[in-house]
Amino acid sequence: MTTSLPTIQTALSKKLGLRFPVVCAPMFLISNKEMIVAAAEAGILGSMPSLNLRTHAQFREALDFIRARTDRPFAINLTIRLTEPERLEQDFEACLDARVPVIITSYGNPTELARRAHEKGVTVFHDVINLKHALKAQEAGADGIIGVAAGAGGHAGSTSPFVLYPYLREHLKVPVIAAGCIATGRQVAAALTLGAELAYMGTRFIASTECGAEPRYKALTVNSNPEAIVYTDAVSGVHANFLRETIPGLEDAPGADKAAVQAAVQKAIEGGASKRWRDIWSAGQGVALAKEIKPIGEIVDDLIREYVDTVRGIPGAGL
Ligand SMILES: Cc1cc2nc3c(=O)[nH]c(=O)nc-3n(C[C@H](O)[C@H](O)[C@H](O)COP(=O)(O)O)c2cc1C
Repeated sequence: MTTSLPTIQTALSKKLGLRFPVVCAPMFLISNKEMIVAAAEAGILGSMPSLNLRTHAQFREALDFIRARTDRPFAINLTIRLTEPERLEQDFEACLDARVPVIITSYGNPTELARRAHEKGVTVFHDVINLKHALKAQEAGADGIIGVAAGAGGHAGSTSPFVLYPYLREHLKVPVIAAGCIATGRQVAAALTLGAELAYMGTRFIASTECGAEPRYKALTVNSNPEAIVYTDAVSGVHANFLRETIPGLEDAPGADKAAVQAAVQKAIEGGASKRWRDIWSAGQGVALAKEIKPIGEIVDDLIREYVDTVRGIPGAGL
């Protein structure tokens, strides 16, 4: 963490105690405790899905690991419908015991978890791809709504970020968190300009030294362009973005249509050649702007420098 760089705050990032308004977003299988510690020490909000630890006992150990290394804020992602109810309850309790400051809920209704989290002073974010679900999540008690725009890594929406963030902001009482394709400080500035209070970044952090992704996954992330990303519901039943090169048969087929993608994914999964997510790798269109594999602390310093240069360079900035 370079101390000469300025602290940039929004109302929400100030409340959380961050140095820069960015979340290192949770990523199934590849986010880990080391990323959370590095993100926390760099002054952003690190996170991981609790399910990235195979057992509940391992998850508790991971929380101890984090707590022993940083006293700064971090978040845990609870994937409601993807987690066995018993494990969900155990992991939630562990978060409360460890005083995890932020819980990010996804894939389900967060009402009950939000109610219990609030009793302990825990902040809850929930992710959505449209206004209808955003209003439901707000009603359910979420303290911030993550709007996942077109082009995002993981399960992504189809609305342009240019519309999604200001649209959500116009209709919500709680803060908007911008997700989708943000890989540079320039885009963090754009997200805040569009009304978001935090930028939620996944793909850029695949290419971090601390990330648990395989070296080839990281290399593909820094060497790809938007055409390398396919948006399909064939892998998990919900539309998500994937690196084309990891779908057998599509490695070199930038023009493949929807049916061809569907057929290739089905063949790979049913034929046993690929396991969803483990072999077919997700990333968003932000791969185009993720250039180098680096420690998270250095990525955050880069983001702050780019942010400052961008804001200073906006025509009329001095008005
Ligand atoms: C490999 C991968 C796995 C993901 N897994 C999860 C997950 O388990 N839970 C979740 O809420 N979001 C998940 N996401 C979505 C991210 O948290 C975040 O919304 C997204 O990465 C933001 O878009 P970006 O990748 O363009 O920055 C995943 C994203 C990626 C790239």
